[in-house]
Amino acid sequence: MQINETRTETSRILKIGQRARKLQEEQKKPYLMLHRGVNAVVNIDINSIAKSIDFNSTDIQVYPGTAGKEKLRRAISDSYFKGKANPENLLIMPGGISGLDITFQNIQVDGIALPNFFWGSYAQLAKLRKIKLNAYSNLQSVIKYPHKYTNQLVIINDPGNPLGEKHPDTDIFNAIDRLYHENIPVLIDSPYRRVFMDNEDDLYQRLLKYPNVIIVDSFSKSMGLSGQRIGFLHSQNKDFIQEAKQRLLYATNGVNAFAQELIYKLISTEEGKSAIQKFKRETSQAIAKNIDFLINNNLLSTEFYKNSKPMGIFASINRTEEELLANKISAVSMSYFSIEPEKHKNHSRICVSVPHEKFVKYLNPLVK
Ligand SMILES: Cc1ncc(COP(=O)(O)O)c(C=O)c1O
Repeated sequence: MQINETRTETSRILKIGQRARKLQEEQKKPYLMLHRGVNAVVNIDINSIAKSIDFNSTDIQVYPGTAGKEKLRRAISDSYFKGKANPENLLIMPGGISGLDITFQNIQVDGIALPNFFWGSYAQLAKLRKIKLNAYSNLQSVIKYPHKYTNQLVIINDPGNPLGEKHPDTDIFNAIDRLYHENIPVLIDSPYRRVFMDNEDDLYQRLLKYPNVIIVDSFSKSMGLSGQRIGFLHSQNKDFIQEAKQRLLYATNGVNAFAQELIYKLISTEEGKSAIQKFKRETSQAIAKNIDFLINNNLLSTEFYKNSKPMGIFASINRTEEELLANKISAVSMSYFSIEPEKHKNHSRICVSVPHEKFVKYLNPLVK
């Protein structure tokens, strides 16, 4: 059988996880798994919401429609765009990664421009879809020289993966405004932002001013529901949405109806909203304490946070992957997240979204 190879690589993150689990088993000692990108302070409590869903209804038992349930798209407009987004411009996606992949397939560009430190899967997806990679050093350089990104799709990921850095929103808007005037498309992929913000956040509503902006978001991080595989995509370009919908149709036949009902109930009922609030409050409080611990103990890679501040759910620390593993912590070398791997191998990405006491217990032996 002849196979069309993807030429992509299995994520380094998965490999580190396998290695840490093997060591854990061999040594019969628990490891702190900080290589992953999941919130692990608390679970969101969805048991009673899930029980209120009628599984014997057509809402659950038939195809959900390619674009996703209209009531869910309306609810997303209400809670993410202050009611200002047209539900026709929204598609429900099986997770953010599918929104990214469909965008990469849909858009005609010479390449994609990524921040200096970027999530490795962007590069793998670009390889899969045969798109060239470029990097921009920071938002300031995009603001100064937007024309450098002509015919590129510029990706903004804030707070970022792997650094967990938050740029001022004014920098994000200035960059988008400059790119808009150069007719350059921008992809906002910021699934971590809502961990720290509530429905009062007006970013997406303000972005409606910019037809060059595509938004991909997900419920994996802001609600800890990565297992449900659900997110959304927004664009004001009718052709873009129409073609994305066709790709979604032939790739998926629509997104799991249970996941759609669940998210609908979470974002539109009082019970759901308070479950989300509790999850986000406890998660963001632990993250803030963990980042303070890193700063106070000189463990944060401060040189990477010059025009931004560490917010989470990740942070970079000035220790190697091996040093951390020797201390029973799984982490991912920063070399994996850069196109200059040699330069950053003394630093590692850790997930800071874990209970504070546990974090301190494992990180304390690294303090000098
Ligand atoms: C920056 C970024 N974007 C998008 C995603 C996609 O997440 P999901 O497919 O679970 O929505 C991730 C997941 O780790 C991510 O880190």
